[in-house]
Amino acid sequence: MSQLKKSFLHKNQEINQSEKKIPEVGICNGKNILFQLTGSIACYKACIVISKLVQSGNQVRTLASEAALKFIGKATLEGLTDNAVITEMFGTRFPRAHIDLPDWADLLILCPATANTINALAAGLADNLIGSTFLANNFRKPYLIAPAMNTNMFLHPATQESLKKLEAWGVRILPTDEGRLACGTSGPGRLLEPEKILLEIMKCLGTK
Ligand SMILES: Cc1cc2nc3c(=O)[nH]c(=O)nc-3n(C[C@H](O)[C@H](O)[C@H](O)COP(=O)(O)O)c2cc1C
Repeated sequence: MSQLKKSFLHKNQEINQSEKKIPEVGICNGKNILFQLTGSIACYKACIVISKLVQSGNQVRTLASEAALKFIGKATLEGLTDNAVITEMFGTRFPRAHIDLPDWADLLILCPATANTINALAAGLADNLIGSTFLANNFRKPYLIAPAMNTNMFLHPATQESLKKLEAWGVRILPTDEGRLACGTSGPGRLLEPEKILLEIMKCLGTK
């Protein structure tokens, strides 16, 4: 067998094994999940989580920051969830989204969470839909944050203090993975792998 074919088969095996690690059915079902995405290259990984949640019988609605939509298209999120993506606060079909969505949701998750949005939430800013939804939720429902960023951004005192503050308020901050980042460096700040995010969601919903 040629070296090229061997390495292709090996790679395929690795992909299949990592797919198997993702729980297929019964992740949790019949739950309403508000999935919020911000502007990170890791938005594509969030789509895997969204897809698995929908496949398991959950209703997923998405809020995407303007920056998130530079990384992932509305068509992908709408195709995966069969629901409209909401970005704008004003002039949309959902004028009270920041109030109605936390009421509707069983769980809210910010994934991937940028340094910008983490620091804005910790400052209580509500000048966009994700900020106002965070304040309107008032910790009635589990709120998870899955940070994703360059190591220096993650380790910056501004970000670390914001994460500590949010955790003290009752937000569940997910750890980051260590490893190679899109910017070419290696260290903490990499978005947790989809199967680990799914497990954290299950834990918060009491289904694991
Ligand atoms: C190619 C590229 C990748 C980026 N990846 C990240 C990232 O992973 N994490 C992060 O915090 N910011 C990242 N940024 C910067 C954010 O997109 C930027 O701070 C943006 O204003 C965030 O807005 P938002 O928090 O409203 O989504 C990236 C920017 C570019 C151009």
